[in-house]
Amino acid sequence: IWCLLAAVCWMLVFGTANGGIKRKLLQNPEANMNISQIISYWGYPSEAYDVVTEDGFILGVYRIPYGKGENSERTAQRPIFYLQHGMFVSASSWVANPPYTSLAFTLADSGYDVWMGNSRGSVWSQKHVHYSPESPEFWAFSFDEMAKYDLVATLNFIMKKTNQEKLYYVGHSQGTTIAFAAFSTNPKLAQRIEFFFALAPMVSVQHSRGPLKTLMSIPPSLLKVIFGRKELFPKSALSQFLSSQMCNRKGFNILCTDFLFRVYGYDRENINMSRLDVYLSQNPAGTSVQNIVHWNQVRIQKSFLVTPPLYDLEAIKIPTAIWSGEQDRIAPPREVDNLLPKLPNLIYHKKIPYYNHIDFLLGLDTPQEFFHEILYLIKMYMKHYRPCRFLVSAWEAGRLQGWEKGETWCSSWEGTFPFLFSAPCWGSGKENKHLLTPTMHRGLY
Ligand SMILES: *[C@@H]1O[C@H](CO)[C@@H](O)[C@H](O)[C@H]1NC(C)=O
Ligand SMILES: *[C@@H]1O[C@H](CO)[C@@H](O)[C@H](O)[C@H]1NC(C)=O
Repeated sequence: IWCLLAAVCWMLVFGTANGGIKRKLLQNPEANMNISQIISYWGYPSEAYDVVTEDGFILGVYRIPYGKGENSERTAQRPIFYLQHGMFVSASSWVANPPYTSLAFTLADSGYDVWMGNSRGSVWSQKHVHYSPESPEFWAFSFDEMAKYDLVATLNFIMKKTNQEKLYYVGHSQGTTIAFAAFSTNPKLAQRIEFFFALAPMVSVQHSRGPLKTLMSIPPSLLKVIFGRKELFPKSALSQFLSSQMCNRKGFNILCTDFLFRVYGYDRENINMSRLDVYLSQNPAGTSVQNIVHWNQVRIQKSFLVTPPLYDLEAIKIPTAIWSGEQDRIAPPREVDNLLPKLPNLIYHKKIPYYNHIDFLLGLDTPQEFFHEILYLIKMYMKHYRPCRFLVSAWEAGRLQGWEKGETWCSSWEGTFPFLFSAPCWGSGKENKHLLTPTMHRGLY
């Protein structure tokens, strides 16, 4: 923690002085873009909306209405995917990688209407009809309000805008917390969810480790003394400097990944080191000190399930699929194991042995590990599925990672992915092994 503090101080001092040379060192143009620009940069149609919550917050909501090079005139309504980010990040984490390894782009290319929300306090949702983000009133919220107000307002807005009744929900980390809280207490909202995909789910932090756990363990009064009552780690100085000045430089990139891994868990091979500037300039994207205080209460009370406000997971009848990582320090296997039996309609769970908390967002092999499974699960339950488009993106991801066309055939896929009958897998090593060993629930395949 001292190293971290020293690093932060160092960056605060030097970060502001060196703004001038920033541009020269940036390697990826996305590091300086907002979400709309990133979406357009990759050639996708982009829409942005302001959604006002019942308690006055103005949230930035982003949309990729259809895939690259598709005809917008197509009259058929596309089924909706809603993506909800977690703590300290924003919707930009769904488009942080090139299209074939970003979930939002892959879903758009697979025929879906993709929407991305931003929780209050994150960098794209720092507006309020009455309060300025400079005021403590603005920051008086935790994930409770995100569940109670943000999600309701955003989903209602999407339904109204698209004239549709149902959608698929993907949440990562605190994005699942919000969902569990909202779906268990708001049956009207829950009815609108066709399927709940939970990545690195988080409902308690008893067994979490790392700096975030340390942060959550600081007594609230002390936390408020150290960080104030407003935003925790405001974006500017820390992240911008770290990312643009240091992280893509040789030597420093180790430091940056070490920081990432300390927070999220270790997985050195699955991150694209050339994109650290993008990852670290977009994050941390802001949350309130009070949110950490609330997580501290969750930690003390062991789980947010047992204390008021009471969230009864048994009430969630939505088909749910979970992907978790064994190297995840924030949502570690023990936490996920505790959660699984509490979910009444768990359809599928896959534990990925080498995944950490952010591999689900940034990992190089996300298409192979779970994108295809999300699409497949929908095919099982629903009618919409356009595998060919998806396959192109998964194949492209594999090719870019330097995988040879392997000799191994996707034997276990034959039944489930008939279109793959004559297609070789894109690898025959590590990635294949994981691909073939998901933990299936209730005989899905
Ligand atoms: C993104 O940035 C561009 C250029 O600065 C600006 O025109 C646009 O309004 C921004 N979009 C959003 C949604 O903030
Ligand atoms: C890694 O990032 C660089 C820079 O953005 C990009 O050109 C390259 O294609 C990425 N590699 C993979 C395997 O995605």
